[in-house]
Amino acid sequence: MRAEDAPLIRLEDYRPSDWLIDTVDLDIALDPARTKVRALLQLRPNPAGRAGAPLTLDGDELTLDLVMLDDVALEPAAYAVSPQGLTIHAPPRRAFSLRIETTLDPGANTKLMGLYRSSGVYCTQCEADGFRRITYFLDRPDVMSVYTVRLEARKAEAPVLLSNGNLVAAAELPGGERHFAVWHDPHPKPAYLFALVGGRLDHVRQDYVTGDGRKVELAVYVEPGKAGRAGWALDSLVRCMRWDERVFGRNYDLDVFNVVAVSDFNMGAMENKGLNIFNDKYVLADPLTASDGDYASIEAIIAHEYFHNWTGNRITCRDWFQLCLKEGLTVYRDQEFSADERSRPVKRIADVRTLRSTQFAEDAGPLAHPVRPRAYKEINNFYTPTVYEKGAEVIRMLKVLIGAEAFSRGMDLYFERCDGTAATIEEFLDCFVEASGQDLADFARWYEQAGTPTVVASGRYDADAASYTLQLAQSTPATPGQAEKRPVVIPVALGLVGRSGDLPLTTLSPAMKADGVVVLDQASLSLTFTEVTEPPTPSLLRGFSAPVRLELDLGDGDLLRLFSADSDPYNRWQALQTVATRALVRAGKGDRSALDATAADLADALSGFLGGPTLPDSAFAAQVLRLPAPADVAREIGRDVDPELVHGVHRQLTAAIGGALAAQLMQLRTGLSERGPYSPAAAPAGRRALRNEALGLIALGAPAQGARLALAQFDEADNLTDRLAALAAMTLIPGPERETLIGRFGDLYAGEPLVLDKWLMAQALIPEEGTLARVKALMGHPAFSLGNPNRVLGLIGGFAANLTQFNRPDGEGYGFVADIVIALDRTNPQVASRLLGSFKSWRMLEAGRRAKAETALRMVKATPNLSRDVADIAARSLG
Ligand code: PHE
Ligand code: ZN
Repeated sequence: MRAEDAPLIRLEDYRPSDWLIDTVDLDIALDPARTKVRALLQLRPNPAGRAGAPLTLDGDELTLDLVMLDDVALEPAAYAVSPQGLTIHAPPRRAFSLRIETTLDPGANTKLMGLYRSSGVYCTQCEADGFRRITYFLDRPDVMSVYTVRLEARKAEAPVLLSNGNLVAAAELPGGERHFAVWHDPHPKPAYLFALVGGRLDHVRQDYVTGDGRKVELAVYVEPGKAGRAGWALDSLVRCMRWDERVFGRNYDLDVFNVVAVSDFNMGAMENKGLNIFNDKYVLADPLTASDGDYASIEAIIAHEYFHNWTGNRITCRDWFQLCLKEGLTVYRDQEFSADERSRPVKRIADVRTLRSTQFAEDAGPLAHPVRPRAYKEINNFYTPTVYEKGAEVIRMLKVLIGAEAFSRGMDLYFERCDGTAATIEEFLDCFVEASGQDLADFARWYEQAGTPTVVASGRYDADAASYTLQLAQSTPATPGQAEKRPVVIPVALGLVGRSGDLPLTTLSPAMKADGVVVLDQASLSLTFTEVTEPPTPSLLRGFSAPVRLELDLGDGDLLRLFSADSDPYNRWQALQTVATRALVRAGKGDRSALDATAADLADALSGFLGGPTLPDSAFAAQVLRLPAPADVAREIGRDVDPELVHGVHRQLTAAIGGALAAQLMQLRTGLSERGPYSPAAAPAGRRALRNEALGLIALGAPAQGARLALAQFDEADNLTDRLAALAAMTLIPGPERETLIGRFGDLYAGEPLVLDKWLMAQALIPEEGTLARVKALMGHPAFSLGNPNRVLGLIGGFAANLTQFNRPDGEGYGFVADIVIALDRTNPQVASRLLGSFKSWRMLEAGRRAKAETALRMVKATPNLSRDVADIAARSLG
């Protein structure tokens, strides 16, 4: 079948499996080219399925060596087999066993799905449908089985043998050359949570006792020699385990919890039961090879995968349409953990930035889809910012709407009621309906309707009546396959800010809930606050209480007032962002007339903020100093975007602010210098963030001074954060000094691929015409390889995120990325399709670039023998 003719799988076609598999016994003899897999499955008819149905097991690129039913060989006519499946035409209408043997070549597995080798280490990746690349199976999440796994290997090649659950036996085999280990996982699980690891690995370990008294051995496994970089991951694990006990009442449920870092991994990490497998960039950290951002991501992703043990594993998904049931909820949980470990407002601001730059962008283009999609051709293309990040926002809104206590009762009910099951969004929401007594039928539309709603707000103060009337209206633009949109339930957290703080909110409107939350659940709403004794400035969508675009009728003066006076830190930050965004949008459409005045206003506001009597929190201040990115401005413009112009006006504004503040920023930097040794803790990381944000502004506003500071910082730095910031600042300043620094950085980190990924990306992001040639040359760098996802996404992904150079007017940027997508598709379709996703905003470009982007997409689409992954993205991008 041609990939573009792949069947559309629809939510409404869901049927329970006709067969269940209660237990799986695997016996796997690891070998680089000939790994033998012997599976023994205990099957029985599913009472909820069709009686007497044939049994069709999934496969993917498999060869069958043997199949026996109840230990009797099957007649050839009794079954049909292909690499994609094994069908038994008339299985017995009772419980029976199947023995299946397959042989795999893990060394040749470049897709990094199923069993493969990463730097000599055997490992697996089974979500979403990789288990079928190991043995024929009912590879669907609602078939849950108890696994016992025997692993065997040459001791020299794989001294460490790990699988899910608890270790029950391990020994050398006669002769002493080979050994085995048996792992048993008592918790029934879907096949996508199966994992094994075999190889030479070092580890760090720690004992842990759960709140309910279970002793757990925790360990983090890494490549030999890297155990010194595993401590932060282990420390994060301990902290997130305690947090989940305290905040969600969730205890760990096995005697062992292992984390393994591998260097070739398509995604961030994977929550396999008791055996999380990670992309090593989210495990390894020391001060000279990981940035503050890396430390924070490691903490967040360790927590994310650990939290899946309850939200994903104990309670899994009925089908892949319910992906957000585990992902959105687990992102919400990891965001809350990080907020508690660090600064809550700063975490919120960072998350909103990510949401806008990734999810809003997706929602605004041809790849837009609901948090719960209704149909897919390739599920691997739905591990998206919409499912993850917007999915988390939906949970956050639910909590705002029903209140923290009802939310907590609903979670408890969910854990109690759905434990051990493969659940749906409906079952999840029912728990909150019961816990809160509220009807959530309209709220559920967030799961079904794609697109980012716009809320338009306007207000009027009546001095005589001492009243303030607020009008809110919502609309959602059409998205692919969804022309008509209905109103969604939008919680708008708000305040009315007066001369000395928040005014009381007095209103009779039923739209007003407790705690300053107005619920906009119709197309529009008007509500009047009384006893408003002075003209207020409305502070709307506090804490970003809903994933919407907000259009305000406030002038810059009002926004600057909010920046200095709002009690909500998120909205203080947002106020300044809004001032900048509006000016940049206007200028990016060609009207630069107000840009310099806005720059002066912003510089004044920032100067007062930084120089005030009390020093602002550094991490927060760093966020305030960082303007919206050019891509955010482009998205707000929305159509006929000229990337060069947007970049130009962004530079102009940034340089003007940086120039005006240069002296003050230099002084500020001096005051923020660290004395003690490096620590990744939030406070020093916040100071570094502020110093480095200041450096970036100086580099643009006063390049000569910026270059001097950056070069000095590079030489003095005792940590990667400061070195990277110096490099990034220098990339803004063309010239020989920049090239020298790039060379020095590359030499310094020649043996450190994860650091070189950042170095490659920094160069790929240079907004200059020479960048394409530079990137092509870097593909020849000894550290680069098309076989490693981190290298590809660092260099090529970095380039595809370069607003002006990916979108070169001659179309060469598109052609380059499209060629790589096509080449990569032959070895790793998942990474190829992710890269092709870089075209998601092509329709908003001005006509010339739009035509060239379309040509490149059509060329990809017309390529013979595309994977389903790439064919699906190409078709939807053009659709
Ligand atoms: N389930 C993983 C997570 O969210 C992501 C993932 C998906 C990893 C598919 C690998 C393959 O943590
Ligand atoms: Zn996840």
